[in-house]
Amino acid sequence: MEQTPLQPIKVNSSVPEEARQLTVDSILALLDASEDDWSGRCWHANHSAIAEENIRFSLTPEMCDEITDALTFIHQNNLTLNHLTQEDFRIPSLARCMTKMREQLDQGAGFLILETNLSAQLNESDFELVGWAVCNYFGQIMRQGINSDLRLFTVADKGSENIDPTRIGASANRSAKHTDNGCLEPRPPAYIGLYCYRSSPHGGETTIVSALSVLREISRQRPELLPQYFQPYHFQAPQAHVWPTNAPTIQKPIFEFIDNELHVHYANVMIFPGMSLAGHALSPSQVDALTLLDEVIERPNLNFQTLLKPGDLLVMNNLAFLHGREAFDPGQVSGRTLKRYWMWRRHIGPGTDPVLLDLAEFGY
Ligand SMILES: [Fe+2]
Repeated sequence: MEQTPLQPIKVNSSVPEEARQLTVDSILALLDASEDDWSGRCWHANHSAIAEENIRFSLTPEMCDEITDALTFIHQNNLTLNHLTQEDFRIPSLARCMTKMREQLDQGAGFLILETNLSAQLNESDFELVGWAVCNYFGQIMRQGINSDLRLFTVADKGSENIDPTRIGASANRSAKHTDNGCLEPRPPAYIGLYCYRSSPHGGETTIVSALSVLREISRQRPELLPQYFQPYHFQAPQAHVWPTNAPTIQKPIFEFIDNELHVHYANVMIFPGMSLAGHALSPSQVDALTLLDEVIERPNLNFQTLLKPGDLLVMNNLAFLHGREAFDPGQVSGRTLKRYWMWRRHIGPGTDPVLLDLAEFGY
């Protein structure tokens, strides 16, 4: 049988080809406009937008009672994580707070921490169920593998089991700032939920930086490099996120403006091998642009940093913010364990409605 040549996944984007030929001036104009529309995202470290009182939420006793009732129903009916539907796990008092929390993610600082204080009283499988149910109120939960990790991925040091250098989440190493790209899917996760079951005695702090703040810094320092970020790059997907019938890379720009909103797709650890796999050498300007980006996204004065404690659920906007993690005590010494959920938003644009999605993408 004739072999079909492998093709990179075509990633949905509303950005036409000519928009990728953006000039410095047009990018600066778009950046100004985006900052006007998304001013809540223009924060630096020590900004009041990311002060503790503005980013922390907690479960009420009423929410905890509803969670207990739902878990009882699930146990009595022998339901498991992979068979759970949203109808099985209702938290109506949480629903009443979702408008405010979603606004925080969409228009505000881009992240929040929901303190649940449930890690000590739940076993790990019940903890996973609660994380799924709460995150399901934020958005539709996506798979994170083809045949496994359908509801969540456990972020922990997998030691020698992990042989994929692009899967930093399975190691105790420091994770440089990146977005989660969800390479199986045409659309990346809009939100990420990191639900801390166990923390490490040392290290493991999570860091977050706003794409708008990063691009503004770059525009001040090296404006001539700006167009480099709006060109498509090949990303090498993690091994577990590669379709057997597709090439091992996907193509995306690092930054793009979609309806005046700045989106970011980045993981240094995927771009260098991705470009090499695709047979495209990085130009000197591209190398300059990536080097500067790697430096700017790690600047302490741009970053929010926190250490999640057991029971904390960090939910963040993965379209307009990057995140990272400091190194922590490896393996059994630490036991640091986070449950990661990826979500698509149902409540903005076409959401997850297949009809509206097709109409938006294909226009008929
Ligand atoms: Fe990540």
